[in-house]
Amino acid sequence: MDKLLISGGRPLSGEVRISGAKNAALPILAATLLTQAPVVLENVPELRDIATMLKLLSQLGVRYRFGANTLEIEASKPESVLAPYELVRTMRASILVLGPLLARCGEAIVSLPGGCAIGARPVDLHLKGLKALGADIRVEAGYIHARAKRLKGCRLVLDQVTVTGTENLMMAAVLAQGKTVIENAAREPEVTDLAEFLVKLGAKISGIGSDVLEIEGVDGLDSGPVHHVILPDRIETGTYLTAAAITQGCIRTTHTRPELLDAVLDKLKEAGAAIIHGPDWIELSQTSRPRAVSFHTAPYPGFPTDMQAQLMALNCIAEGVGIITETIFENRFMHALELRRMGADITLEGHTAICRGVAKLEGAPVCASDLRASASLVLAALAAEGETVIDRIYHIDRGYERIEAKLAKLGATVQRIRE
Ligand code: EPZ
Repeated sequence: MDKLLISGGRPLSGEVRISGAKNAALPILAATLLTQAPVVLENVPELRDIATMLKLLSQLGVRYRFGANTLEIEASKPESVLAPYELVRTMRASILVLGPLLARCGEAIVSLPGGCAIGARPVDLHLKGLKALGADIRVEAGYIHARAKRLKGCRLVLDQVTVTGTENLMMAAVLAQGKTVIENAAREPEVTDLAEFLVKLGAKISGIGSDVLEIEGVDGLDSGPVHHVILPDRIETGTYLTAAAITQGCIRTTHTRPELLDAVLDKLKEAGAAIIHGPDWIELSQTSRPRAVSFHTAPYPGFPTDMQAQLMALNCIAEGVGIITETIFENRFMHALELRRMGADITLEGHTAICRGVAKLEGAPVCASDLRASASLVLAALAAEGETVIDRIYHIDRGYERIEAKLAKLGATVQRIRE
Protein backbone atom coordinates (compact mmCIF):
# COMPACT_ATOMS: atom_id res chain seq x y z
CA MET A 1 0.00 0.00 0.00
CA ASP A 2 1.27 3.46 -0.88
CA LYS A 3 2.47 5.74 1.90
CA LEU A 4 3.04 9.49 2.06
CA LEU A 5 6.26 10.77 3.66
CA ILE A 6 5.93 14.36 4.89
CA SER A 7 8.55 16.52 6.63
CA GLY A 8 6.65 19.30 8.37
CA GLY A 9 7.20 22.48 10.33
CA ARG A 10 7.38 25.06 7.56
CA PRO A 11 4.77 27.60 6.38
CA LEU A 12 3.12 26.77 3.04
CA SER A 13 2.49 29.49 0.51
CA GLY A 14 1.46 29.90 -3.11
CA GLU A 15 -1.47 29.11 -5.37
CA VAL A 16 -3.37 25.84 -5.77
CA ARG A 17 -5.96 25.05 -8.44
CA ILE A 18 -9.06 23.39 -7.00
CA SER A 19 -10.45 20.37 -8.86
CA GLY A 20 -14.05 19.46 -9.65
CA ALA A 21 -16.10 18.11 -6.75
CA LYS A 22 -16.03 14.31 -6.33
CA ASN A 23 -19.44 14.43 -4.66
CA ALA A 24 -20.96 16.34 -7.58
CA ALA A 25 -19.30 14.24 -10.30
CA LEU A 26 -20.41 10.90 -8.83
CA PRO A 27 -24.20 11.53 -8.91
CA ILE A 28 -23.91 13.31 -12.28
CA LEU A 29 -22.11 10.29 -13.73
CA ALA A 30 -24.90 8.06 -12.44
CA ALA A 31 -27.47 10.46 -13.95
CA THR A 32 -26.07 9.84 -17.47
CA LEU A 33 -27.89 6.48 -17.27
CA LEU A 34 -31.14 8.43 -17.61
CA THR A 35 -30.50 9.62 -21.18
CA GLN A 36 -29.30 8.28 -24.51
CA ALA A 37 -28.11 11.74 -25.50
CA PRO A 38 -24.34 12.23 -25.64
CA VAL A 39 -22.99 14.09 -22.59
CA VAL A 40 -19.74 16.05 -22.20
CA LEU A 41 -18.61 16.77 -18.64
CA GLU A 42 -15.73 19.13 -17.89
CA ASN A 43 -13.74 19.67 -14.68
CA VAL A 44 -14.15 15.98 -13.76
CA PRO A 45 -11.48 15.17 -11.16
CA GLU A 46 -9.19 12.17 -11.82
CA LEU A 47 -9.77 10.20 -8.62
CA ARG A 48 -10.08 6.57 -7.54
CA ASP A 49 -13.78 6.98 -6.88
CA ILE A 50 -14.39 8.42 -10.35
CA ALA A 51 -12.50 5.48 -11.87
CA THR A 52 -14.66 3.09 -9.82
CA MET A 53 -17.89 4.75 -10.98
CA LEU A 54 -16.70 4.64 -14.61
CA LYS A 55 -15.90 0.93 -14.21
CA LEU A 56 -19.40 0.33 -12.89
CA LEU A 57 -21.01 2.35 -15.70
CA SER A 58 -19.05 0.50 -18.37
CA GLN A 59 -20.25 -2.80 -16.87
CA LEU A 60 -23.77 -1.41 -17.32
CA GLY A 61 -23.08 -0.75 -20.99
CA VAL A 62 -22.13 2.91 -20.89
CA ARG A 63 -19.39 4.01 -23.31
CA TYR A 64 -17.02 6.83 -22.38
CA ARG A 65 -13.77 8.61 -23.23
CA PHE A 66 -11.94 10.35 -20.36
CA GLY A 67 -8.89 12.61 -20.63
CA ALA A 68 -7.64 15.96 -19.32
CA ASN A 69 -10.52 16.16 -16.86
CA THR A 70 -13.06 15.98 -19.73
CA LEU A 71 -15.45 13.06 -19.98
CA GLU A 72 -17.48 12.19 -23.10
CA ILE A 73 -20.13 9.70 -22.13
CA GLU A 74 -23.01 7.89 -23.82
CA ALA A 75 -25.53 5.57 -22.18
CA SER A 76 -27.55 4.83 -25.29
CA LYS A 77 -29.14 1.79 -23.72
CA PRO A 78 -27.85 0.15 -20.54
CA GLU A 79 -27.04 -3.52 -21.33
CA SER A 80 -27.19 -4.60 -17.68
CA VAL A 81 -28.92 -3.49 -14.50
CA LEU A 82 -26.52 -5.22 -12.09
CA ALA A 83 -24.17 -3.27 -9.77
CA PRO A 84 -22.05 -6.09 -8.30
CA TYR A 85 -20.80 -6.37 -4.72
CA GLU A 86 -17.15 -6.43 -5.90
CA LEU A 87 -17.52 -2.83 -7.07
CA VAL A 88 -20.09 -1.47 -4.62
CA ARG A 89 -18.02 -2.63 -1.62
CA THR A 90 -15.16 -0.39 -2.79
CA MET A 91 -17.36 2.66 -3.17
CA ARG A 92 -20.66 3.23 -1.37
CA ALA A 93 -21.64 5.96 -3.81
CA SER A 94 -22.32 3.15 -6.31
CA ILE A 95 -25.80 3.13 -4.72
CA LEU A 96 -26.42 6.21 -6.88
CA VAL A 97 -27.09 4.01 -9.94
CA LEU A 98 -30.17 2.53 -8.24
CA GLY A 99 -32.57 5.41 -8.96
CA PRO A 100 -31.49 6.05 -12.56
CA LEU A 101 -31.50 2.33 -13.54
CA LEU A 102 -34.95 1.86 -12.04
CA ALA A 103 -36.28 4.96 -13.81
CA ARG A 104 -34.69 4.21 -17.20
CA CYS A 105 -34.87 0.37 -17.34
CA GLY A 106 -37.67 -0.47 -14.89
CA GLU A 107 -35.29 -2.69 -12.94
CA ALA A 108 -32.10 -2.52 -10.85
CA ILE A 109 -30.07 -5.09 -8.93
CA VAL A 110 -27.63 -3.24 -6.71
CA SER A 111 -25.47 -4.69 -3.98
CA LEU A 112 -26.26 -3.28 -0.56
CA PRO A 113 -23.32 -1.03 0.30
CA GLY A 114 -21.75 -2.26 3.54
CA GLY A 115 -20.85 0.12 6.32
CA CYS A 116 -17.54 1.93 6.34
CA ALA A 117 -15.09 3.31 8.87
CA ILE A 118 -17.27 6.32 9.73
CA GLY A 119 -20.53 4.52 10.30
CA ALA A 120 -23.19 1.97 9.39
CA ARG A 121 -24.33 4.18 6.50
CA PRO A 122 -27.75 2.51 5.94
CA VAL A 123 -29.75 3.19 2.76
CA ASP A 124 -33.20 2.61 4.28
CA LEU A 125 -34.36 6.11 3.33
CA HIS A 126 -33.41 5.51 -0.32
CA LEU A 127 -35.48 2.29 -0.36
CA LYS A 128 -38.41 3.78 1.58
CA GLY A 129 -38.65 6.63 -0.95
CA LEU A 130 -38.46 4.30 -3.97
CA LYS A 131 -41.19 2.11 -2.49
CA ALA A 132 -43.37 5.21 -2.03
CA LEU A 133 -42.77 5.95 -5.72
CA GLY A 134 -44.26 2.55 -6.52
CA ALA A 135 -41.18 0.35 -6.81
CA ASP A 136 -41.25 -3.29 -5.73
CA ILE A 137 -38.16 -3.60 -3.51
CA ARG A 138 -36.75 -6.88 -2.19
CA VAL A 139 -33.43 -7.33 -0.39
CA GLU A 140 -31.98 -10.81 -0.90
CA ALA A 141 -28.51 -12.18 -0.27
CA GLY A 142 -27.02 -8.73 0.11
CA TYR A 143 -28.61 -7.34 -3.05
CA ILE A 144 -31.39 -4.82 -3.55
CA HIS A 145 -33.82 -6.07 -6.25
CA ALA A 146 -35.92 -3.13 -7.44
CA ARG A 147 -38.61 -3.25 -10.11
CA ALA A 148 -41.17 -0.79 -11.44
CA LYS A 149 -42.92 -0.65 -14.79
CA ARG A 150 -43.06 3.10 -14.35
CA LEU A 151 -42.64 4.98 -11.07
CA LYS A 152 -45.49 7.21 -9.94
CA GLY A 153 -44.82 10.63 -8.49
CA CYS A 154 -45.84 11.35 -4.89
CA ARG A 155 -45.03 13.53 -1.89
CA LEU A 156 -41.95 12.29 0.00
CA VAL A 157 -40.93 13.60 3.42
CA LEU A 158 -37.41 12.40 4.28
CA ASP A 159 -37.07 11.40 7.97
CA GLN A 160 -33.61 12.92 7.99
CA VAL A 161 -31.45 14.88 5.60
CA THR A 162 -29.61 12.47 3.30
CA VAL A 163 -27.41 13.71 0.44
CA THR A 164 -27.30 10.60 -1.76
CA GLY A 165 -30.82 9.69 -0.66
CA THR A 166 -32.09 13.01 -2.03
CA GLU A 167 -30.03 12.49 -5.20
CA ASN A 168 -31.26 8.93 -5.79
CA LEU A 169 -34.91 9.88 -5.30
CA MET A 170 -34.62 13.00 -7.46
CA MET A 171 -33.09 10.92 -10.30
CA ALA A 172 -35.84 8.30 -9.93
CA ALA A 173 -38.57 10.96 -9.97
CA VAL A 174 -37.51 12.75 -13.19
CA LEU A 175 -38.98 9.93 -15.35
CA ALA A 176 -41.91 9.08 -13.05
CA GLN A 177 -45.51 9.61 -14.02
CA GLY A 178 -46.80 12.84 -12.46
CA LYS A 179 -45.34 15.12 -9.83
CA THR A 180 -42.99 14.26 -6.95
CA VAL A 181 -42.31 16.58 -4.03
CA ILE A 182 -39.26 15.79 -1.86
CA GLU A 183 -39.46 17.56 1.50
CA ASN A 184 -36.53 17.83 3.90
CA ALA A 185 -34.30 17.43 0.84
CA ALA A 186 -30.53 17.89 1.24
CA ARG A 187 -29.36 21.35 0.10
CA GLU A 188 -25.66 20.53 -0.40
CA PRO A 189 -24.22 22.37 -3.45
CA GLU A 190 -23.52 18.96 -5.01
CA VAL A 191 -27.27 18.18 -4.92
CA THR A 192 -27.89 21.52 -6.64
CA ASP A 193 -25.25 20.75 -9.29
CA LEU A 194 -26.96 17.41 -10.02
CA ALA A 195 -30.38 19.12 -10.26
CA GLU A 196 -29.01 21.69 -12.70
CA PHE A 197 -27.50 18.89 -14.80
CA LEU A 198 -30.84 17.02 -14.84
CA VAL A 199 -32.61 20.20 -16.00
CA LYS A 200 -30.10 20.44 -18.88
CA LEU A 201 -31.11 16.87 -19.80
CA GLY A 202 -34.73 18.05 -19.97
CA ALA A 203 -35.97 17.31 -16.45
CA LYS A 204 -38.54 19.61 -14.87
CA ILE A 205 -37.32 20.48 -11.34
CA SER A 206 -38.17 23.51 -9.18
CA GLY A 207 -37.05 24.49 -5.68
CA ILE A 208 -33.43 23.77 -6.62
CA GLY A 209 -31.18 24.73 -3.70
CA SER A 210 -34.04 24.59 -1.20
CA ASP A 211 -35.18 21.74 1.04
CA VAL A 212 -38.35 21.24 -1.02
CA LEU A 213 -37.73 19.85 -4.52
CA GLU A 214 -40.66 19.59 -6.96
CA ILE A 215 -40.15 17.27 -9.92
CA GLU A 216 -42.63 17.03 -12.80
CA GLY A 217 -41.99 13.61 -14.38
CA VAL A 218 -41.35 13.47 -18.15
CA ASP A 219 -41.50 10.54 -20.58
CA GLY A 220 -37.86 10.75 -21.65
CA LEU A 221 -34.68 12.79 -21.28
CA ASP A 222 -33.31 12.92 -24.80
CA SER A 223 -33.10 16.63 -25.45
CA GLY A 224 -29.89 16.26 -27.43
CA PRO A 225 -26.18 16.64 -26.55
CA VAL A 226 -25.56 18.14 -23.12
CA HIS A 227 -22.48 19.92 -21.77
CA HIS A 228 -21.84 20.51 -18.07
CA VAL A 229 -18.94 21.80 -15.98
CA ILE A 230 -18.65 20.05 -12.60
CA LEU A 231 -18.86 22.29 -9.53
CA PRO A 232 -15.56 23.10 -7.76
CA ASP A 233 -14.78 20.98 -4.70
CA ARG A 234 -15.62 22.99 -1.56
CA ILE A 235 -14.05 20.35 0.71
CA GLU A 236 -10.76 20.31 -1.18
CA THR A 237 -10.87 24.13 -1.01
CA GLY A 238 -11.39 24.07 2.76
CA THR A 239 -8.63 21.50 3.17
CA TYR A 240 -5.98 23.62 1.40
CA LEU A 241 -7.07 26.78 3.20
CA THR A 242 -6.68 24.87 6.48
CA ALA A 243 -3.16 23.87 5.32
CA ALA A 244 -2.33 27.60 5.23
CA ALA A 245 -3.85 28.14 8.69
CA ILE A 246 -2.11 25.17 10.33
CA THR A 247 1.36 26.06 8.94
CA GLN A 248 0.93 29.85 9.44
CA GLY A 249 1.35 30.41 5.73
CA CYS A 250 -0.57 32.06 2.91
CA ILE A 251 -2.40 30.08 0.20
CA ARG A 252 -4.68 31.18 -2.64
CA THR A 253 -7.12 28.56 -3.91
CA THR A 254 -8.27 29.22 -7.48
CA HIS A 255 -11.08 27.86 -9.73
CA THR A 256 -13.31 27.62 -6.67
CA ARG A 257 -16.39 29.44 -5.34
CA PRO A 258 -16.33 31.25 -1.93
CA GLU A 259 -20.09 31.05 -1.47
CA LEU A 260 -19.90 27.24 -1.26
CA LEU A 261 -18.17 27.16 2.12
CA ASP A 262 -19.31 30.12 4.24
CA ALA A 263 -19.49 28.07 7.46
CA VAL A 264 -15.90 26.87 7.01
CA LEU A 265 -14.55 30.35 6.21
CA ASP A 266 -16.32 31.75 9.30
CA LYS A 267 -14.59 29.17 11.53
CA LEU A 268 -11.19 29.80 9.95
CA LYS A 269 -11.63 33.54 10.54
CA GLU A 270 -12.61 32.80 14.16
CA ALA A 271 -9.31 30.89 14.42
CA GLY A 272 -7.50 34.10 13.48
CA ALA A 273 -7.07 33.77 9.71
CA ALA A 274 -7.20 36.75 7.37
CA ILE A 275 -9.31 35.76 4.33
CA ILE A 276 -9.87 37.68 1.10
CA HIS A 277 -11.67 36.39 -2.01
CA GLY A 278 -12.80 37.14 -5.52
CA PRO A 279 -15.57 35.46 -7.53
CA ASP A 280 -13.52 32.32 -8.14
CA TRP A 281 -10.63 32.42 -5.66
CA ILE A 282 -10.08 32.53 -1.88
CA GLU A 283 -6.83 33.43 -0.11
CA LEU A 284 -6.06 32.67 3.52
CA SER A 285 -3.09 33.95 5.48
CA GLN A 286 -2.33 33.07 9.11
CA THR A 287 0.35 35.21 10.71
CA SER A 288 0.11 33.96 14.30
CA ARG A 289 -0.74 30.77 16.18
CA PRO A 290 -4.39 29.88 15.45
CA ARG A 291 -6.98 30.13 18.19
CA ALA A 292 -9.00 26.97 19.01
CA VAL A 293 -12.55 26.86 17.60
CA SER A 294 -15.66 24.97 18.65
CA PHE A 295 -18.41 23.79 16.31
CA HIS A 296 -20.88 21.04 15.57
CA THR A 297 -21.33 19.51 12.15
CA ALA A 298 -24.69 19.90 10.36
CA PRO A 299 -26.31 19.50 6.95
CA TYR A 300 -25.64 22.34 4.47
CA PRO A 301 -25.41 25.29 4.95
CA GLY A 302 -24.16 24.28 8.43
CA PHE A 303 -20.56 23.25 9.10
CA PRO A 304 -19.83 20.25 6.81
CA THR A 305 -18.96 16.93 8.43
CA ASP A 306 -16.42 16.44 5.62
CA MET A 307 -14.37 19.29 7.10
CA GLN A 308 -14.57 18.14 10.74
CA ALA A 309 -11.35 16.12 10.73
CA GLN A 310 -9.40 18.94 9.09
CA LEU A 311 -10.47 21.53 11.69
CA MET A 312 -9.67 19.04 14.46
CA ALA A 313 -6.09 18.93 13.16
CA LEU A 314 -6.02 22.75 13.33
CA ASN A 315 -7.35 22.68 16.90
CA CYS A 316 -4.52 20.32 17.89
CA ILE A 317 -1.92 23.09 17.56
CA ALA A 318 -4.21 26.04 18.37
CA GLU A 319 -4.21 28.29 21.45
CA GLY A 320 -6.93 27.14 23.87
CA VAL A 321 -9.55 24.39 23.89
CA GLY A 322 -11.82 23.55 20.95
CA ILE A 323 -14.94 21.40 21.35
CA ILE A 324 -16.15 19.53 18.26
CA THR A 325 -19.48 17.71 18.07
CA GLU A 326 -20.11 15.33 15.16
CA THR A 327 -23.86 15.08 14.57
CA ILE A 328 -23.96 13.34 11.16
CA PHE A 329 -21.96 10.10 11.52
CA GLU A 330 -21.63 7.87 14.55
CA ASN A 331 -17.94 7.06 14.24
CA ARG A 332 -16.11 9.91 12.59
CA PHE A 333 -13.32 10.50 15.12
CA MET A 334 -10.89 7.78 13.95
CA HIS A 335 -8.36 10.48 13.03
CA ALA A 336 -8.26 11.57 16.72
CA LEU A 337 -6.57 8.30 17.69
CA GLU A 338 -3.83 8.87 15.11
CA LEU A 339 -3.45 12.58 15.90
CA ARG A 340 -2.79 11.56 19.52
CA ARG A 341 0.17 9.51 18.27
CA MET A 342 1.59 12.82 17.03
CA GLY A 343 1.24 14.39 20.49
CA ALA A 344 -2.26 15.86 20.22
CA ASP A 345 -4.28 16.24 23.43
CA ILE A 346 -7.79 15.07 22.45
CA THR A 347 -10.44 13.62 24.76
CA LEU A 348 -13.34 11.78 23.14
CA GLU A 349 -16.71 11.68 24.85
CA GLY A 350 -19.33 10.06 22.60
CA HIS A 351 -19.99 12.40 19.67
CA THR A 352 -17.84 15.14 21.20
CA ALA A 353 -14.09 15.68 20.96
CA ILE A 354 -12.33 18.08 23.35
CA CYS A 355 -9.07 19.32 21.77
CA ARG A 356 -6.54 21.09 23.99
CA GLY A 357 -4.02 22.81 21.73
CA VAL A 358 -0.33 21.94 22.13
CA ALA A 359 2.53 24.12 20.91
CA LYS A 360 3.86 21.54 18.48
CA LEU A 361 3.01 18.10 17.12
CA GLU A 362 5.76 15.56 16.42
CA GLY A 363 6.06 13.60 13.22
CA ALA A 364 5.22 9.90 13.66
CA PRO A 365 4.12 6.82 11.67
CA VAL A 366 0.29 7.00 11.37
CA CYS A 367 -2.43 5.18 9.47
CA ALA A 368 -5.32 6.60 7.44
CA SER A 369 -8.78 5.12 8.09
CA ASP A 370 -11.04 7.06 5.72
CA LEU A 371 -10.88 9.85 3.19
CA ARG A 372 -11.16 12.92 5.41
CA ALA A 373 -9.26 11.35 8.30
CA SER A 374 -6.31 10.98 5.94
CA ALA A 375 -6.65 14.65 4.99
CA SER A 376 -6.42 15.63 8.65
CA LEU A 377 -3.29 13.50 9.10
CA VAL A 378 -1.69 15.24 6.10
CA LEU A 379 -2.48 18.63 7.65
CA ALA A 380 -1.07 17.59 11.03
CA ALA A 381 2.07 16.25 9.31
CA LEU A 382 2.58 19.55 7.47
CA ALA A 383 2.58 21.37 10.82
CA ALA A 384 4.50 18.79 12.87
CA GLU A 385 8.20 18.89 13.65
CA GLY A 386 10.03 16.09 11.87
CA GLU A 387 8.89 13.31 9.57
CA THR A 388 5.47 11.66 9.36
CA VAL A 389 4.72 8.51 7.36
CA ILE A 390 1.01 8.09 6.55
CA ASP A 391 0.04 4.56 5.61
CA ARG A 392 -2.99 3.39 3.53
CA ILE A 393 -2.89 6.59 1.54
CA TYR A 394 -5.27 5.03 -1.02
CA HIS A 395 -7.96 6.59 1.12
CA ILE A 396 -6.79 10.06 0.16
CA ASP A 397 -6.49 9.17 -3.52
CA ARG A 398 -10.27 8.68 -3.48
CA GLY A 399 -10.94 12.38 -3.01
CA TYR A 400 -7.84 14.54 -3.55
CA GLU A 401 -6.51 14.87 -7.10
CA ARG A 402 -2.67 14.90 -7.45
CA ILE A 403 -2.26 15.75 -3.76
CA GLU A 404 1.52 15.49 -3.53
CA ALA A 405 2.02 17.65 -6.64
CA LYS A 406 -0.31 20.31 -5.28
CA LEU A 407 1.34 20.27 -1.85
CA ALA A 408 4.87 20.34 -3.30
CA LYS A 409 3.93 23.40 -5.36
CA LEU A 410 3.00 25.09 -2.06
CA GLY A 411 6.45 24.34 -0.63
CA ALA A 412 5.70 21.12 1.26
CA THR A 413 8.33 18.38 1.51
CA VAL A 414 6.21 15.38 0.51
CA GLN A 415 7.02 12.08 -1.16
CA ARG A 416 4.86 9.09 -2.15
CA ILE A 417 6.39 5.72 -1.28
CA ARG A 418 4.94 3.06 -3.57
CA GLU A 419 4.73 -0.41 -1.95
C1 EPZ B 1 -22.71 12.05 1.38
O1 EPZ B 1 -22.77 10.75 1.92
C2 EPZ B 1 -21.26 12.28 0.97
N1 EPZ B 1 -20.89 11.31 -0.05
C3 EPZ B 1 -20.37 12.15 2.20
O2 EPZ B 1 -19.05 12.46 1.79
C4 EPZ B 1 -20.81 13.18 3.24
O3 EPZ B 1 -20.03 13.02 4.40
C5 EPZ B 1 -22.29 12.97 3.57
O4 EPZ B 1 -23.07 13.03 2.36
C6 EPZ B 1 -22.83 14.02 4.52
O5 EPZ B 1 -22.66 15.29 3.96
C7 EPZ B 1 -21.27 11.53 -1.33
O6 EPZ B 1 -21.93 12.50 -1.65
C8 EPZ B 1 -20.82 10.52 -2.34
P1 EPZ B 1 -26.07 10.98 4.06
P2 EPZ B 1 -24.21 10.07 2.19
O7 EPZ B 1 -27.01 10.03 3.41
O8 EPZ B 1 -25.19 10.55 1.20
C9 EPZ B 1 -28.00 8.59 7.68
C10 EPZ B 1 -16.75 12.16 1.62
O9 EPZ B 1 -15.89 12.26 2.49
N2 EPZ B 1 -28.79 7.87 6.67
O10 EPZ B 1 -26.29 12.44 3.88
O11 EPZ B 1 -23.98 8.60 2.31
C11 EPZ B 1 -26.50 8.30 7.58
O12 EPZ B 1 -26.19 7.12 8.29
C12 EPZ B 1 -18.04 11.44 1.92
O13 EPZ B 1 -16.66 12.65 0.48
C13 EPZ B 1 -29.71 6.91 7.09
O14 EPZ B 1 -29.86 6.65 8.28
O15 EPZ B 1 -24.59 10.65 3.61
C14 EPZ B 1 -25.89 9.54 8.20
O16 EPZ B 1 -25.90 9.39 9.60
C15 EPZ B 1 -18.00 10.76 3.26
N3 EPZ B 1 -30.44 6.24 6.15
C16 EPZ B 1 -26.87 10.65 7.80
O17 EPZ B 1 -28.07 10.00 7.42
C17 EPZ B 1 -30.29 6.50 4.81
O18 EPZ B 1 -31.01 5.87 3.99
C18 EPZ B 1 -26.41 11.50 6.62
O19 EPZ B 1 -25.98 10.60 5.62
C19 EPZ B 1 -29.35 7.48 4.40
C20 EPZ B 1 -28.62 8.15 5.34
